[in-house]
Amino acid sequence: MIKNKQELKIESDFAKSAKIVLHNGDTAEFVKTIPDNSVKLIITSPPYNVGKSYEKKQDIHKYLEWHKPIIKELVRILHPEGSICWQVGNYVDKGEIFPLDIFYYEIFKQHGLKLRNRIVWHFGHGLHARKRFSGRYETLLWFTKSDNYTFNLDPIRVPSKYPNKKYFKGDKKGEISGNPLGKNPSDFWEAIYQEWEKEIWEIPNVKSNHPEKTIHPCQFPVELVERCVLALTDNDDWIYDPYAGVGSALIAGIKNDRKVIGSEKEKEYVDISKKRIVSLMNGELKLRPMGKPIYDPKRTAKENSQAQLRSYANNQ
Ligand SMILES: C[S@@+](CC[C@H](N)C(=O)[O-])C[C@H]1O[C@@H](n2cnc3c(N)ncnc32)[C@H](O)[C@@H]1O
Repeated sequence: MIKNKQELKIESDFAKSAKIVLHNGDTAEFVKTIPDNSVKLIITSPPYNVGKSYEKKQDIHKYLEWHKPIIKELVRILHPEGSICWQVGNYVDKGEIFPLDIFYYEIFKQHGLKLRNRIVWHFGHGLHARKRFSGRYETLLWFTKSDNYTFNLDPIRVPSKYPNKKYFKGDKKGEISGNPLGKNPSDFWEAIYQEWEKEIWEIPNVKSNHPEKTIHPCQFPVELVERCVLALTDNDDWIYDPYAGVGSALIAGIKNDRKVIGSEKEKEYVDISKKRIVSLMNGELKLRPMGKPIYDPKRTAKENSQAQLRSYANNQ
């Protein structure tokens, strides 16, 4: 819970003494104002060049050339023990797909970054393709700047499938074999998007708006960013989202007592971010709790709420 609201002033330009920086402008210029080796986690979903309302579709090679100097700056500001999480999908041209992570991988490698995971985000719904298999996942490339990097596994463990499983032979026979805090969440992340896209929340079989949804067409669920924030940073570290949209990464950071920076060119989204941050500070922002199980239409209402209670208990 946010304790000292006074501390949490939203600055529009970078200052070392700030806790929250949200800049309305072009990332290519703003990033130059952030000091070397200062940001522990850069997490973002950059524009995919697919012609969304906030971008103009251009040739993929031109698009990547535009991004190269920005990535160079991002590597400059990244803390030696820090991470970059780059979430992308496909660029599509006349039915041909270009998985953007393949192209971005080369650019990050040229800067000496090391890939630790290629996380697959699977979602169950979306447009049905007619001349290829329907796309149902995107990826998040997690790179580190060095071999000595922050990785906190305990805060992001998820409930084990068989928590009471015991050793059946040897010295530890009869003892619980798994970690009581749960298991590693792996590099395959399901959850959320199914619910996000179907806009199902809490009440089985009743459609209602997801509690976090704003007018932004491709908003991050805060819960997904939180997993990276908790694993890859410590309290008081800086987190930066260079394409901040409506501020989901900033919210995940502030909620967990990190210092945050965001830059976003659309004023409308910056204004929404500010409102969401203020509402978080006032304890009024509706967020989907981290680890809440996905609503399963095959389960009864009672089974769904029992699954939810189990997950809350596991998160205490
Ligand atoms: C995929 S969205 C990110 C959404 C964000 N993750 C969220 O949860 O709201 C990409 C964002 O990048 C912004 N953007 C595109 N080009 C930009 C630039 N040159 N400088 C700053 N922001 C830019 C777009 O306006 C858009 O909001």
